Amino acid sequence: MKFLQLTDTHFVPPGEKLYGRDPRRTLNAAVADINAHHGDAELLVVTGDLTHWGEPDAFANLAQALAPLSMPVELLIGNHDARDVFARYFPGQGRDDNGFVQSVRETSAGPFIFLDTVLAGTHAGHYCETRCAWLAETLASLGDREVFLFMHHPPFDTGIPASDNIGLQQKNAFRQVIEPHRHRIRHLFYGHVHRPICGSWLGIPTSTLRAINHQVWFDMEGTKLRGSFEPPAYGVIQVADDRVVVHFHDFMDASEKFDLHDSPWDDWSRRRPHP
Ligand SMILES: [Fe+2]
Repeated sequence: MKFLQLTDTHFVPPGEKLYGRDPRRTLNAAVADINAHHGDAELLVVTGDLTHWGEPDAFANLAQALAPLSMPVELLIGNHDARDVFARYFPGQGRDDNGFVQSVRETSAGPFIFLDTVLAGTHAGHYCETRCAWLAETLASLGDREVFLFMHHPPFDTGIPASDNIGLQQKNAFRQVIEPHRHRIRHLFYGHVHRPICGSWLGIPTSTLRAINHQVWFDMEGTKLRGSFEPPAYGVIQVADDRVVVHFHDFMDASEKFDLHDSPWDDWSRRRPHP
């Protein structure tokens, strides 16, 4: 089973720029690359910060940009989005009984659980008691089945202080919900950080990747978020019974591509014997 991850598209109204870049132009390139090479993916997940300011025109712009994709798209919201405006432009996206953008999708790799970590008016992540109860109930209802989790804010510190300062605020409460089920969570995918990071939390494999419009510079000391224009990426994830493999693809890379083996640089006769 193959699916794709994009994150932090930070869309603005058509024709406008953000930090001097047009996010639509970059997402158009991602969509074209996906349609050319990964049209067979079962699903695309966008892990939040769909827009930068949450305007209706920005959501409409995003809906247009995603329309040429052949696979279903699952959208999470992030701290830059407005939940009610999102729901107006993407009425088909799952919401729980309390209106949070949370849902479960059955895939050929098992259930995917999508979480909503947004509190209006703050960049920090929030997971209130109501959402914790929904997640606990959802995990319990799936019995012993293995699942995949998706959320915008990571539930742990990443070591980048400026980002951790706007991280999930209820880490302990969230951890208590997850801990009894950690053995059956195959992977946790997140956004928010605008950087490629992988590792594990409570023994659960985790990963995120670079965003679409702009990135966050690697800085483990400063407390101010510093932007950068490192290349954008999308993720290609392959799932089988015995593995989850996550590829990060810099789809706008324009460097020369060449044959590594059929070249003078791979001439076996040049190998020197070991002393
Ligand atoms: Fe973001």
